[in-house]
Amino acid sequence: MGFVEDVYVEMYPELFRGGGLTGPVKGYTLREIRLRPVFSKVNPLGADLSSSIGPVKLNFPLLSAAMNAVSGPNMAKAIFEVGGCGIIYRHREIETQITWLAEVLAHKPCLVSDPKCLRPDQTLEEANNILQEFGFSTIPVVKDGILVGIIFTGGIAFKKHLYEPVSKWMKPFEELKVEHVDTPFSRIRDRLLEEQECSVLPIVDDGKIFKGIYFMKDFFAADPSYHNGKPLAGIAIGVEKNDLERARQALEMGAGIIVVDSSHGNCPDVISQARAVVKMAHDRAAVIAGNVADIDGYWQLSQAGVHGVKCGIGPGSICTTTEVTGAGVPMFTLIRELDFIRRRMAVKGEHAPAIIPDGSIEGPGDMVMALAAGGDACMAGKWLVAASESLSCQEKGVGKEGFVEYWGMASKRAIKSRVTDSRYKGKTAPEGVEGRVKHRGPLKTWIKKDIELIQGGFAHAGAANLEALHEFGNQPIAFVRFSSAGQEQIRTRLD
Ligand code: XMP
Repeated sequence: MGFVEDVYVEMYPELFRGGGLTGPVKGYTLREIRLRPVFSKVNPLGADLSSSIGPVKLNFPLLSAAMNAVSGPNMAKAIFEVGGCGIIYRHREIETQITWLAEVLAHKPCLVSDPKCLRPDQTLEEANNILQEFGFSTIPVVKDGILVGIIFTGGIAFKKHLYEPVSKWMKPFEELKVEHVDTPFSRIRDRLLEEQECSVLPIVDDGKIFKGIYFMKDFFAADPSYHNGKPLAGIAIGVEKNDLERARQALEMGAGIIVVDSSHGNCPDVISQARAVVKMAHDRAAVIAGNVADIDGYWQLSQAGVHGVKCGIGPGSICTTTEVTGAGVPMFTLIRELDFIRRRMAVKGEHAPAIIPDGSIEGPGDMVMALAAGGDACMAGKWLVAASESLSCQEKGVGKEGFVEYWGMASKRAIKSRVTDSRYKGKTAPEGVEGRVKHRGPLKTWIKKDIELIQGGFAHAGAANLEALHEFGNQPIAFVRFSSAGQEQIRTRLD
């Protein structure tokens, strides 16, 4: 027997004992298992959520799903700002995907690059109009593109001075704290958050040309992950030969993650494509491949040299695969199985890639479970499509009742627009559906609370970081399965 078979026997001795009926394996979803709260010295806001996938470090280990309802440039910028990474979807011509990637790689987090501005000769009445209409109390004053001052409207008795020029009331350039357009993000954050030198920081170039302004308040949710000095951003590619051109260009530009993206990753095309991208990347970027639903898939892709293996076939919120094809594995059990083989491989000194659960991670509770079970980072679609920056929200808008449309990449709607892989050529039967989720607004206005809840989960497990959470997850008492009545009770408390 080979290594993988041995690991299966070790995992499920009762199934291999021989005699009697074999199987099935007991499969659990993320929702029916919970973490046991234990003695903890970890502050509810103190856990460090950072994680790594090969050469890439994530401050918040969440990737946006490579779907045409979710991941375009604005989603990628927004999730990068909070420490995650956007994976720009692939069913699109290469030019668009690469242009979007370039936009994200050039992004300056938290910079408001086109604020409402005034000229020095405009009146206080006009400053007051901006305040009344938009609520902006800090207004840069710009002449011929050059920053000449800032007007802070707080404390001005407008009625008395309505027709006076803003130049008389502004704080002139010479008295302002300003920063150069090339200053790294970390320095800007230090000035605003650590040193608290000022509440706003305007940005200019060598010729004092105004380039935008930072506001301290925008930094509270921001913890962007950089990779080789550039915003962390990724793209998905398929298994066709010309998909390697997408990878090549993205790597040249400085992308941090390349995902070889397939609904069934344990197959020859995906494995050989993954091997080719690993070779091309030379550890400049993390290479992820998937999705798999068995430990052999994890092992095969690890042999191809990938830094991360994405797992999950069937559990996604818009997936019907399990229902219509009869195939699928519940997510909790799948992650535990991959974690098991990963540990065995690590003991043997073999390369053991990061585990990236994808599908059915719809919020903080699911993410805590997926990480505790052994995940290193998660991928999410439904959770993130609710943000104003999702492609669905950007392109289709928010519906009258405040809902955002969401659809699977194998739904009837998406199949029509897909650039098909040869493996799927001629496939017309959908394995996904469409629906809608409640709009939650711009990502940074709500994700910080979700991050706090995840930290809360770590704290309940006494885990100060992901390594400690993984250790906890391997204690015999760590997980508790709720009966269906128990699951019902988690949800229903009050009318
Ligand atoms: P969530 O639960 O986060 O799942 O919305 C997103 C993940 O689901 C996968 N995906 C699909 N799976 N049919 C499927 O069986 C589909 O139409 C489909 N579309 C997306 C994909 O892995 C995604 O990241």
